[in-house]
Amino acid sequence: MGLEVPRTGEQRGASDRERLESERGATTREGPVAREQKPSVPGASETVSAALFLICCTKHDHFGRSNVQARREQTGSMDIDNDPTVLLAGASGDTGRRVLYLLARSGLDVRAITTDPGNVGDLRRASADEVVVCDLFDRADAERAVSGVDLILTTVGSTPQEVFLADELVDGTGNINLVESAAAAGVERVVMESSLGVGGDRASAMARFFRLSIGPVVEAKTAAERAIRESGTDYTIFRPGVLTTGAATDDAQVASAESGLWGAVSRADVARLMVAAPFTPEATNRTLDVVRNPLLRNRSERIDWRHP
Ligand SMILES: NC(=O)c1ccc[n+]([C@@H]2O[C@H](COP(=O)([O-])OP(=O)(O)OC[C@H]3O[C@@H](n4cnc5c(N)ncnc54)[C@H](OP(=O)(O)O)[C@@H]3O)[C@@H](O)[C@H]2O)c1
Repeated sequence: MGLEVPRTGEQRGASDRERLESERGATTREGPVAREQKPSVPGASETVSAALFLICCTKHDHFGRSNVQARREQTGSMDIDNDPTVLLAGASGDTGRRVLYLLARSGLDVRAITTDPGNVGDLRRASADEVVVCDLFDRADAERAVSGVDLILTTVGSTPQEVFLADELVDGTGNINLVESAAAAGVERVVMESSLGVGGDRASAMARFFRLSIGPVVEAKTAAERAIRESGTDYTIFRPGVLTTGAATDDAQVASAESGLWGAVSRADVARLMVAAPFTPEATNRTLDVVRNPLLRNRSERIDWRHP
């Protein structure tokens, strides 16, 4: 499939919202959307495959501004030459560490946040320019963390214990505190690591399995995604399949959310896309499924990722 003609960020945002709404049977400007327009729904064998993926691949322990603004309005993406300052939430986590490594290599100024003061030394050694101890459940902490940044990447997530026992999850409340603080502070762009199955996604057996097996996380991430879309801040949301610790392939398949893509994908590949998204016009105001499943190339979209 060829490259899309770049549209403005606002146009892309509208199409993302409209598409997600239409897949729930809502009405678009063109009128009601027929259910037949949805991607085909895979069968029972895919359910078994999704379960096997989870069993085999899931981690065992758990799961200043004016120039920047002007360029974003022209191109729909950020310009690396304007030296945006990046806030990385989840920097100590398994995807976050890979994101931090890539950000450090790109020469961007990085503020990493962690809840654990014991992580500060490690994150500094991993080339974070600044480390802020911050609990995203605390709104004042979130406001302090976003002050002066242009771009936020969030890979935060909950432990299995938290998923089934906690009243609130960082996937939801924490990310919402982050994005609302970001919008109030005039942050340019938010990039979030979400998950297949979020937002009513039933397009694959894997998405349905995620909804059944980690329902509280899916609900929390759905609320966070909604807060991002409603914030007015440009965004890219990635919904990966089962995350692995494999190497980067630079051959992950992406497609608009609820495309029916399913499979595993390495955190390294997701990290590469998260870092590229703010500089990639075609990723502006998009919600994208991401997996590494070459068999589904025909359902995926070719995007010219601009790696910083
Ligand atoms: N596992 C899968 O197969 C899978 C599939 C699809 C999507 N996902 C999603 O992908 C994302 C990344 O997963 P991962 O396994 O790479 O990450 P991870 O290793 O679980 O790391 C989670 C991060 O969240 C941070 N965090 C937790 N509570 C926080 C709070 N209250 N305030 C600030 N930060 C907080 C932690 O920071 P501290 O260490 O500083 O507390 C940690 O760095 C998650 O959102 C996950 O749900 C996972």
